[in-house]
Amino acid sequence: MTTGDATDFAHVGPETLAGRFLRRFWQPIARSADLVEGRPVRAQFANEYFTLYRGQSGAVVLLDDRCPHRQTSLAFGWVEDDCIRCLYHGWVFDPTGQCIEQPAENATFAAKVKIKAYPVREYFGLVYGHFGEGDAPEFPRYPELEDVEGADYSVNKHEVPCSWFQRLENDVDEVHVHFVHSVSTRAIGLKELPEITVTETDYGIRREGKRSGSGVNVPRVGHLMMPNINMTDLPPSPEYAYWTVHLAYRVPMTDELSMTFSIRLQKPQPGAPPKARGTIMNRPDWDVEPGVLVEKILAGKMRLQDVDKDYPALFVVEDNVALAGQGRITERHKDRLGQSDKGIILLRKIWERELRALAEGRPLKVWSRPKHRLDLAVTNIRETAEFV
Ligand code: FES
Ligand SMILES: [Fe+2]
Repeated sequence: MTTGDATDFAHVGPETLAGRFLRRFWQPIARSADLVEGRPVRAQFANEYFTLYRGQSGAVVLLDDRCPHRQTSLAFGWVEDDCIRCLYHGWVFDPTGQCIEQPAENATFAAKVKIKAYPVREYFGLVYGHFGEGDAPEFPRYPELEDVEGADYSVNKHEVPCSWFQRLENDVDEVHVHFVHSVSTRAIGLKELPEITVTETDYGIRREGKRSGSGVNVPRVGHLMMPNINMTDLPPSPEYAYWTVHLAYRVPMTDELSMTFSIRLQKPQPGAPPKARGTIMNRPDWDVEPGVLVEKILAGKMRLQDVDKDYPALFVVEDNVALAGQGRITERHKDRLGQSDKGIILLRKIWERELRALAEGRPLKVWSRPKHRLDLAVTNIRETAEFV
């Protein structure tokens, strides 16, 4: 039996309920293309650092960050074959975390030293780790992304300057699209406020924003996959001039800082030559990082309304201003929730129920998704191109 506040979703260290819950699932920690062979990085997840590298065989290795000798980060060391040598005194660890060499020590010492190695996977341009106790669950795949003829994939990441849970709550908030992103939604004629319905499912929450269906005012569906994933179609923005399928992971870096890792499926545009296999590529870097604009706006040095409507990361700036405007960790109990907040109410209820079960040692819900593709408003009803 553990104590802990089952309504505290923001604190995510390994000893907290929310942190323990999140660690039961696979979590993205880097983009594959950013992980260059022989160049280790210090990856962050939920108030902890890890050392992540691609060995000379191409295999990805994920280890505890601290060298057990004198505690410096292994991420500053050298990759040798698929092992890593510590910068400080040259101890070498293999991909299982076993120490195999200590240049200045007696020969029998290394065998007694081992650090933790974590299960790791690569999928659609992202690297995932599993940080929980026991065996990792089956790796979740997304048939909505797989085998889509002619599609290309943009692999993205950006910081969100607040608690990861605020970012996740925004995913079940369909109404915000009409206000936070109004510069873009008004321009395409998406103007009917949705009637919200939400349902708890085997995988999380299915939400629907019902609209008349005329023009671009389509009923928009989103799937929140437990514990921290959102899959939906996104309307055209300055960066993508057409509807895209968006799979987004809202990942805590610290209690007050989160990272969105996402995969954006871009269906072929009208007139594009047919091709068998799509490409998976990192999104090109933005010329101006949205975080720079967000901090200026939060500091009162510029207004959101003054950001160029064609700025490619406009949606990110808009969301992040609204979310960080709530405070880095918002005081949720002060919220005055209404009928349009059904998704947020259900999300909090599910999280509280599961954290309470975890605290009391009771069985948790086993989340699973169907093998077939889930419905998405645009993808499965009509071709994306109709909405350009
Ligand atoms: S701290 Fe790593 S070898 Fe000494
Ligand atoms: Fe948004």
